[in-house]
Amino acid sequence: MTGSGSAAPSRALDNQDISHFVDTSDEWIASRTGIRQRRLAQPDQSLKTIAAAAARNALEMAGITPLDVDLIILATSTPDDLFGTASQIQAELGATKAVAFDLTAACSGFVFGMVTAAQFIHTGAYQTVLLIGADLLSRWVDWSDRRTCVLFGDGAGAIVMQANPDINHLLGFELRSDGTQNSCLTLAYQPQPRELTAETIVGQGNFQPIQMNGQEVYRFAVKKVPEVIEKALFRAELSVAQVDWLVLHQANQRILDAVADRLGIPAVKVISNMARYGNTSAASIPIALDEVVREGRIKPGDVIAASGFGAGLTWGATIFRWGK
Ligand code: UT7
Repeated sequence: MTGSGSAAPSRALDNQDISHFVDTSDEWIASRTGIRQRRLAQPDQSLKTIAAAAARNALEMAGITPLDVDLIILATSTPDDLFGTASQIQAELGATKAVAFDLTAACSGFVFGMVTAAQFIHTGAYQTVLLIGADLLSRWVDWSDRRTCVLFGDGAGAIVMQANPDINHLLGFELRSDGTQNSCLTLAYQPQPRELTAETIVGQGNFQPIQMNGQEVYRFAVKKVPEVIEKALFRAELSVAQVDWLVLHQANQRILDAVADRLGIPAVKVISNMARYGNTSAASIPIALDEVVREGRIKPGDVIAASGFGAGLTWGATIFRWGK
């Protein structure tokens, strides 16, 4: 784990601003979620440009150039192009030797991507992987639905993972999916029948805005996230006390507090930046990680427990050591 970077649109929308177009208040949003503002991409901004900015910062910290990258994995649910945006980022960076693909696992995307990247490194297939988590959920939020529109924001984070023949820094992981609960959180395609011939009808439609059963997802997160972290720690042969930092998907401060409490991890070890960004989906863990790395709080050798959870439903945890 040799470099991190992040980027977010400069336009900020605070809770007070939202109360001008839906029936809500700064008091409700801040007390129920911990969120105070979120960044929003403007119509002329793309996932590609924001993700590439985060990626450049990560490459710079790692001290490598785009030409050193073998593989780019873009964890996103909000690509600029449904065929994938990773290749566009590869071109934008000039990472001409890298193969690039998108990975979709909603808010768990970064954690799933980290495990995927590590498999390529462990087999010896690739030496240097650029893993990006980026989402522009503002494109898909129903801005008239106060139950969801207050939660989400836009941004991107990235890390560089490089082969080290002597040490494996991904110490343990656990990934899970439960499609039976898919309807709890969706950004679903809705087809409309379109008749081509009398016998042939195709379904052409659009994706519908985010729908969430907040209470169900809340209960799921508070129960399942501690379980996967404990499982990943078991695989890493580490105890909870050996975790230096807990970096959870930034969905709700109350979820962070409840998970830390269940695990017995003190608040000083829990990284939280959702007050400033809201829920940025696949970007939330790498943005939070990057900020703390750049503050110098996370130091080389520190043990980090990261956990993502969200639509699918998907959830997972990785235990890793920061640094070379
Ligand atoms: O990234 C994917 C993972 N997503 C998550 O982890 C989200 C998990 N869920 C949550 O974080 C919480 O469930 C929410 C923050 C979404 C909602 O908080 P809650 O404490 O579960 O609120 P609630 O849904 O039980 O709603 C309580 C009340 C309702 O009013 P009534 O029925 O009691 O009169 C809602 O209509 O709050 C109302 N409400 C609002 N009021 C003001 C819902 N949204 C708002 C709002 N402003 N924005």
